[in-house]
Amino acid sequence: MVGSVALPGDKSISHRAVILGSIADGVCLVRNCLVSDDVSATIQACRNLGVRIEQVGADSVEINGVGVDGLSSPAKPLDFGNSGTSIRLLCGVLSGAGIRTILTGDSSLRQRPMERIVGPLQSMGAGISMSEQGTAPLTILGEPSLQPIEYVLPVASAQVKSALLLAGLYADGITRLVEPTPTRDHTERMFRAFGVSLEIASKTVAIKGRQRLRPANITVPADLSSAAFFIVGATIGSGSKLFLPSIGVNPTRTGVIDILRAMGARIIMSNAREIGGEPVADLTVSSSDLQGIEIPQKLIPSAIDEFPAILIAAAFARGRTVLRGAHELRHKESDRIAAMEEGLTRLGVRAETFDDGIAVEGGTVGGGEINAYADHRIAMAFAVAALCSRGSIVVRNASAIATSYPDFLAAAMRVGLRIEQ
Ligand code: S3P
Repeated sequence: MVGSVALPGDKSISHRAVILGSIADGVCLVRNCLVSDDVSATIQACRNLGVRIEQVGADSVEINGVGVDGLSSPAKPLDFGNSGTSIRLLCGVLSGAGIRTILTGDSSLRQRPMERIVGPLQSMGAGISMSEQGTAPLTILGEPSLQPIEYVLPVASAQVKSALLLAGLYADGITRLVEPTPTRDHTERMFRAFGVSLEIASKTVAIKGRQRLRPANITVPADLSSAAFFIVGATIGSGSKLFLPSIGVNPTRTGVIDILRAMGARIIMSNAREIGGEPVADLTVSSSDLQGIEIPQKLIPSAIDEFPAILIAAAFARGRTVLRGAHELRHKESDRIAAMEEGLTRLGVRAETFDDGIAVEGGTVGGGEINAYADHRIAMAFAVAALCSRGSIVVRNASAIATSYPDFLAAAMRVGLRIEQ
């Protein structure tokens, strides 16, 4: 892969900017906001809750925040499509917003676990219920106020942490959360940009309820999770020199860089700076010979969305790569452990799965037909594998790429991937 790719705005940060902007006390401008199906689901839900949001230019949105107490009851259920971040984070807000709402999504989202947010929200006094299977649709009665909780998160999840911090805004007192391992801290950073004070100490974060959000203008850094496919492509491709400007390199997200470097990837970070409270840098990636490794478990939360791409790198590496302690991958947009094993096996790569992970024997990668199971990251990972596979790869069920990176195919073709749609 040769050239430069301007990656779109970070998905996690875009969701948070739209949500916090919607409950701020005035007008907020979000620049470089990701325009994708998932973020559109958040924007549409906020519009249905009475917030005026306008697209200004190609990738900026202007949000007319209504204040923490200004959301109004939507006429119909809020449909979040495929977006887990939208439904979970807004669930936190809506639990305390004093309005009645029903939250649902597509068939994949309706299979993802919601008990992890519903349980602690109920213990804050939220009138929230879910299906018998512990999934969406969720019905929220909308209490006028919640009680604060002290809660130790059983799984490392930024979505759960963020939902509870957002609910904590509506609680009378201090909500204190303890994480098993630190997860992405975009909510905490953005709260501060909106003037909300938090107490943060290693794995604990505490928020005092009843604070108001002063309007803020946010510039969203480019998405490292989308960049990961190009980082892997440039690493496995021969003669690569790829420049990726202004990528978000928040240390709670950079596990993919640490893991690929440990495998031998040459990734140079330069021009480190901050944009809107988030660390950003330019990345330059060159071709490298990769070696299989045992992936350190402490890096899993900071690389949680990048394992499809990392496992493609493992397929091209010398030797065995082992990932354990990653059971959460079974609860993403697809069961990513199963989807990756099936796809790699179809390409002639030996892969063995465990309940909490997968081992991949690197070497030769052939061609074949794989099912992306409507999971954007599985589809993009196998598309990138085609750069160096012995035969062509057909990726079925790939339209979900639009949930996070609608321009992926065009961008990949510009830097050397040959794709037919
Ligand atoms: C996200 C958190 C992660 C990640 C998801 C986005 C977020 O989910 O997988 O794509 O924006 O908070 P979990 O919190 O469920 O691990």
